[in-house]
Amino acid sequence: MDEFIAGLPKCELHLHIEGTLEPELKFELARRNGIELPYRSAEEARAAYVFDSLTSFLVGYYASMDVLRTEPDFYDLATAYLVKAAAQNVRYAEIFFDPQAHTSRGVPFDLVIRGLRRAILDAERREGIRAQLIMCFLRDSEAGFAMATLLESLPYREWIAGVGLDSDERGNPPVKFERVFARAREEGYLLTMHCDVDQENTTEHIRQCLDVIGVDRIDHGVNALDDPALVDKARERGIGFTVCPVSNGFVTDGPKAEVVRRMLDLGLRVTINSDDPAYFEAYVAENLQLVRDELGLTRDELARLERNAFEIAWLPPAIRDGYLAELAEYTATAP
Ligand code: HPA
Ligand code: ZN
Repeated sequence: MDEFIAGLPKCELHLHIEGTLEPELKFELARRNGIELPYRSAEEARAAYVFDSLTSFLVGYYASMDVLRTEPDFYDLATAYLVKAAAQNVRYAEIFFDPQAHTSRGVPFDLVIRGLRRAILDAERREGIRAQLIMCFLRDSEAGFAMATLLESLPYREWIAGVGLDSDERGNPPVKFERVFARAREEGYLLTMHCDVDQENTTEHIRQCLDVIGVDRIDHGVNALDDPALVDKARERGIGFTVCPVSNGFVTDGPKAEVVRRMLDLGLRVTINSDDPAYFEAYVAENLQLVRDELGLTRDELARLERNAFEIAWLPPAIRDGYLAELAEYTATAP
């Protein structure tokens, strides 16, 4: 690992907490909850994570969540991620969670969010890492289920920075959730949505995000480059893109590092993130390392990626400025 990357103060904005479930923890949770897994070891479980598209990835991904049952399970899941992230000098993370993937199995919303919240507070105290939650809706479920989940979240409003949209994009455009996101905005949530890479109608979905939903940023969204009008609009509005190169390498035809170069050159607010690090075996530092290696990024460009992330993060100005100052100090003094 490049030493400059290792020490760089980092901001992670595209991270699914359920995607941080390492096979070892999965085994531990299965044992704790008396669940029989179809593998004998963590190595066997890891070998069984085989996929070549978003759809095939999501099948195993959602099945794995069955081991998450109790408040301490969610606490341990988030704690494991936060400890790892802090060790990579992630200073701040915005963490997606998928409540519907749990409530649909009979695991209460309250238990999920309490476990995650407690882990965040403890990690902040112990590791000095700050984090906030983003609640994602499952786009391949009915909009009514998303609306019910939004209403269920309102008592916990102070614990959730914003809402997002994930799972299988095929046939599930942003406009399907227009009312849900309008209501979320009224409730004071900030808005983001996945526009996964190389999906059917992808530029139309990005357009809907910008023109109909009015998102504050876009997760992935690299196909905006296919349409100059989208590039102009995103740049004018300062829309951030949370790009995940190693993830792209697994679920599309490659890591798409060259789009990061183009986005940087076009003045778009591109950021580098890990998505589902337990499945893609790369946390945020490894993602930065990949784009550095593929593109020969300079230190200034690496720092720029993190500056973009802190700039688009859903933080109060004083806290954001603190991180930006820390980043500036690091780039001025790193050996
Ligand atoms: N896209 C859609 N759904 C997801 C993803 C993703 O990148 N990661 C986890 N769920
Ligand atoms: Zn994602």
